[in-house]
Amino acid sequence: MIKNYLNKFSLKKKKAYIIGGCGLLGSEITEALLSASSQVYVFDNDKKKGNLLKKKFINNKFTFIHFDLENLYQADKKMRNFIKKNGCPDIFINCSYPATKEWKLSSFKKNSLNLLRKNIDLHLNSYTWLSFKICEAMRQKKIPGSVIMFGSIYGLVGQNMSIYKNTKISENMNYSIIKGGIINFSRQLASYYGNYNIRVNSICPGGIVGHTKGLGKKQDKTFLNNYKKNCPMKRLGSPEDVASSALFLASDASSYITGTTFIIDGGWTAI
Ligand SMILES: NC(=O)c1ccc[n+]([C@@H]2O[C@H](COP(=O)([O-])OP(=O)(O)OC[C@H]3O[C@@H](n4cnc5c(N)ncnc54)[C@H](O)[C@@H]3O)[C@@H](O)[C@H]2O)c1
Repeated sequence: MIKNYLNKFSLKKKKAYIIGGCGLLGSEITEALLSASSQVYVFDNDKKKGNLLKKKFINNKFTFIHFDLENLYQADKKMRNFIKKNGCPDIFINCSYPATKEWKLSSFKKNSLNLLRKNIDLHLNSYTWLSFKICEAMRQKKIPGSVIMFGSIYGLVGQNMSIYKNTKISENMNYSIIKGGIINFSRQLASYYGNYNIRVNSICPGGIVGHTKGLGKKQDKTFLNNYKKNCPMKRLGSPEDVASSALFLASDASSYITGTTFIIDGGWTAI
């Protein structure tokens, strides 16, 4: 009789909290975790999508919680009270993408100090503060948890300016600052909480088929072609490519993996 390694991917007795679980990647990760029998609580400010997911996952252990990162003091308090009432999660994933309305003006030419500061507060501070609080809750409850924060290849390397040529998309100065900070803070959390058997990793996707933040649903064709040409695997990633890695990092199949930047980019950062 051989060991059943697939059991290590099971999340049967696990409880997962996913911030941004209504998004392009978040909803796919939610589905991946539900498929592994996890209980999933999605925290997101998109009520409409939350209600759609409630219908889609009606026969699963799925709960939607309206949650807004806009006011971090309130979000922090809401999360604290939620944990008191519903318990500390075994898995915490933050795949939200909070941004101000003027996010697309984050290019070197159009950026402003106000835009940078507001988005650092909304994105970097909410990611780092809430994951720290969750790690603390896990430590206090002696939960051997898994925490996953979403970085990006653009928190690791600079953007290739040539892929925006002849498109309305431009480089994003603020994104590189925010994602770089999130990635290194996940290492710092891993270092401190490793002793408590709490694992912290960041996932860094490359370009994903779907939408371009701040620029609507349709991705620019020229951009897509430029991107594909420059990527060793000659395609963008899919939400499924990312969700299966999130499932791996959330589960006991990755029991000795912490402090890593898990890159899902078809080889983009290898060259
Ligand atoms: N899609 C990509 O190509 C890509 C590539 C690399 C990294 N990433 C990263 O992965 C993560 C997920 O990206 P995505 O494409 O799924 O984004 P998305 O915009 O599709 O989803 C983000 C989710 O966050 C929620 N959200 C936004 N502001 C919020 C707020 N103030 N309070 C609560 N929830 C809020 C949205 O409602 C949405 O459901 C992001 O951190 C992003 O930077 C994405």
